[in-house]
Parts: sequence; C-alpha cells; structure tokens
Amino acid sequence: MRKLNIVILAAGKGTRMHSNKPKVLHEVGAKAILAHVIDCAKILNPHKIIVVYGYGGEIVREAFADENIIWVNQADQLGTGHAVQQASSFLEADADTLILLGDVPLVDVEACKHLIAKAENALAILSFNKADPTGYGRIERSVLGNVMAIVEHKDATAAQRNIVEVNAGIMAMPNKYLTQWLTKLTNNNAQAEYYLTDIVALAVAQGVDVVAEITNDEWSVTGINSKVDLSAIERVYQTRLAQKLLQQGVTLKDPARLDVRGTLSCGRDVVIDVNCLFEGNVSLGDNVKIAANCVIKNTVIAAGTQIAPFTHIDDSQIGENSRIGPFARLRPGTTLAAETHIGNFVEIKNSQVDVGSNINHLSYVGDTTVGKHVNIGAGTITCNYDGANKFRTVIEDNAFIGSDTQLVAPITIGKNATIAAGSTITRDAPADQLTFCRAKDQKSIANWKRPTKAK
Ligand code: UD1
Ligand code: CA
Repeated sequence: MRKLNIVILAAGKGTRMHSNKPKVLHEVGAKAILAHVIDCAKILNPHKIIVVYGYGGEIVREAFADENIIWVNQADQLGTGHAVQQASSFLEADADTLILLGDVPLVDVEACKHLIAKAENALAILSFNKADPTGYGRIERSVLGNVMAIVEHKDATAAQRNIVEVNAGIMAMPNKYLTQWLTKLTNNNAQAEYYLTDIVALAVAQGVDVVAEITNDEWSVTGINSKVDLSAIERVYQTRLAQKLLQQGVTLKDPARLDVRGTLSCGRDVVIDVNCLFEGNVSLGDNVKIAANCVIKNTVIAAGTQIAPFTHIDDSQIGENSRIGPFARLRPGTTLAAETHIGNFVEIKNSQVDVGSNINHLSYVGDTTVGKHVNIGAGTITCNYDGANKFRTVIEDNAFIGSDTQLVAPITIGKNATIAAGSTITRDAPADQLTFCRAKDQKSIANWKRPTKAK
C-alpha cells in the first residue's frame, strides 16, 4: 500500500446559501456536509487528512474537534490551486494525495479508490458528462483521446464550451509531482485565480500520464452551492438509504416518504408505513411494525412490537411484543419491558415499566418505577415535580390505579394495591388493600336550573 494524504478543500464562503453558517456545516441526513466527506476520507485509511478552511473557520474546526485532522487556514480564497498550496508543507514526499471537495457530500468511496489506484506515477482525475456543462472546467482531449488540459468555463473558447465532459474536482497524484506543480501555478486567467486544474497541462508538458476516470453517478460529484442543491441532495441521499433498506428486506409502504437522519438498523420482516422519521441510532427488531407518522429517535425496539400512528419516541427502549400509541409520547429514559401497552395521549419520561403493564389512556408517568402487570387507569398523573425538585413514584406488581388518580411523589403503591378512581394519593398505599381519597359528600340538588344567557 502506498502512503496516502487527503486534502479536502473547504474554504469557499458559500454566499449562495444565504446563511450565517459556513456552507460545509449545513446538513445532509442530519450530518454536516463536510462530515460526509471526512467519513469518506477515513474509509480510505490515509496517513493524513488536511482540511483547507477559510470562511467561518473556527466554527468549522470546533465542529470536528474530535477528528484527527490537520487544519490549514486559507485566509484569502485565491483559487483551488492556492488552497492546495496552503497545504503543501504538510504533504509527505513519499505519499500520494487525493483532493476532495468539502461541499460534495455524496462522494463515492469506490471512485476514490479507483483514482488512487490509477495515480501510481500518474495524475488521475474524476470526470463526468454534463448535459449543461456551464460553469465547469472542461476536459480537453487530443484526437487520440488523451487528456491534454482542463479549461475553466470562463477561459474557454466557444469550441471548448461545447465539450460536455467536465472536471468533478476530485483528483489523485503522487506528491513528488504535485508539490512541484504547485510552485508553477500562475493566475493569468479570466478569474485571476490560481487554478488547481492547471496541473493537468503541467503534467502533460512534463510527460506524466493523465488519466480521466468517467463516473456515471453525477450525484456523487455534485457540490452544494445553494439551499436548492441541498434539498435535492437530501432527497437523493434519502432515496438511496431507502433503497438499501428495501434490498435488505424491509417493507417500506412508500420509500419516498421515509426520512432517516442517522442510522436505522432493522431485523427481518420489519414494516414501516408512510411519513416516518428516524433520528440518531434506531434499531428495530424482527417483525416490528411502525405505523404512519411516527418520529423515533435513539431508540431500541424489540421484536414483535407495534407502534401505532403519530407516536413520538426519544431515547427509549421498548421490549418485545408491546403495543405503543397511537399518539403516545415516550421521552428520554423510558424503558418498557415486554408486552407492555401504552395508549393514546400517554406521556412517559424517565420511567421503567415492567412486563405486561398497561397505561392505556391520557396519563403522565414521570420518574416512576412500574412493576409487572400493573394497570394504570385513564387520566392518571404522577405529580413528580414540586416546582423545584423531582421525586420518584413506585408502583409495585399487580397494582391497579383507578382513573383520574393523582399520585403525589415521593410515593409507593404496594403490591396488588387498588387505588380508587378520582383519588389524590399523598402517602404510601399498602399492599393488597383498597386505598381511596376523594370528597366524600356527594350531593344532588333537586329543582336546580342551569344558568341561561342574559338577554
Ligand atoms: C472547480 C474546478 C472546475 C470543476 C468544478 C467542479 C478549479 C479551478 N475549477 O470550479 O474545473 O469543474 O470545481 O465543481 O479548480 N475552494 C477553496 N479555496 C479557494 C477556492 C475554492 O477552498 O480559494 C474550495 C471550495 O470551497 C470548494 C472547492 O474548492 O469546495 C471548489 O471551489 P469552487 O469555487 O466551487 O470551484 P469552481 O470554480 O466551481
Ligand atoms: Ca463549484
């Protein structure tokens, strides 16, 4: 294996994003554009990754503080060649360099591997055929088909502008040539910039082979310049992700109506209905069914569980064969054991619910430990917060909580206890007994009339 350096060009300002955020920090699939490029680079196992940054530099660096990256500041953006010149002193004499663009998130690892393989003692560039090549550098070939030069759009003659094979901007070459070529670049051109693309003509003049690898996957070389580009790439990214899931055997009712912003791993016979959003790391066991319009983040759902429509789940774990929703909200720290039922308009936070327990309607359960086979009636509220501190509620196995009950924490409801409907419970309830606490004087007023509207 030859030694590899990777230089990522990311100094461009991104004016057309109309944003205060540096362009490369905008996200595709909830991951920064530059992070996609860095991840591709890391797969190639380079000796060094050098990022040339400029606009918004410190914020960009901070965003990747955990990565092993050499940061090179390009204070004035005088062109792609000038950008690589800034990295020149970091390039190793015995290595090859792969140039990547920081605003091309769908960059293809396989294409990079091909370029690197071809760059042994040669300059390898990635090109593609573009129906409307306006703005791109054209690949100029000899009659024999040999690559002779890259001519930038603004410098091209009318005849050169008819060339549809264009430079993707990704290239690889030995450093012994690159460092030498970099010293020879000039800015005598239409944009008064130092063009990296001028190295092609320099290589040809020196008798160094230039090979152009043509890719058919235009999206893999498409750079993002505007929110229009960003939204288009996001769709392509999502479509490709959905296709992978389908190929793995996941049933997607409509692959165009799925969004994965992170990693979704699925067992066998998983079914996902329309308009679901998965964020962070989500894992779905065998036979899990997710109905329409669910938002699920950083959650593990075990085999056989069904999630009904409009359910929100965040940072939770759900056991096997459970039924959640519709309209349930599981907040961070929720752990549900197997065969639990959580119904509509139930909110659970930082709580553990053991096997076979039901919370079926209109309840808030927070900071609570629920035992096995507990039934929590409609409209039960754990009052866990006194305005300053939070307290825990413990509901032991087989307890039955009647509807419209308030459990004022800290409190323990004993095993097999029954709480009568409409109770406000402020002290521990003993095991096996019926406990109730409600206004005892139920009255009826005869001949009472409802108020009527004043005339
Ligand atoms: C460049 C190529 C062109 C190619 C096109 C593909 C040159 C001279 N031209 O054109 O042949 O078809 O990309 O998209 O290389 N950058 C810096 N510092 C600079 C200038 C640019 O870091 O001073 C970075 C940008 O952030 C971007 C990349 O280099 O990631 C490409 O720059 P851009 O301005 O888009 O290049 P083009 O002129 O479009
Ligand atoms: Ca560009």
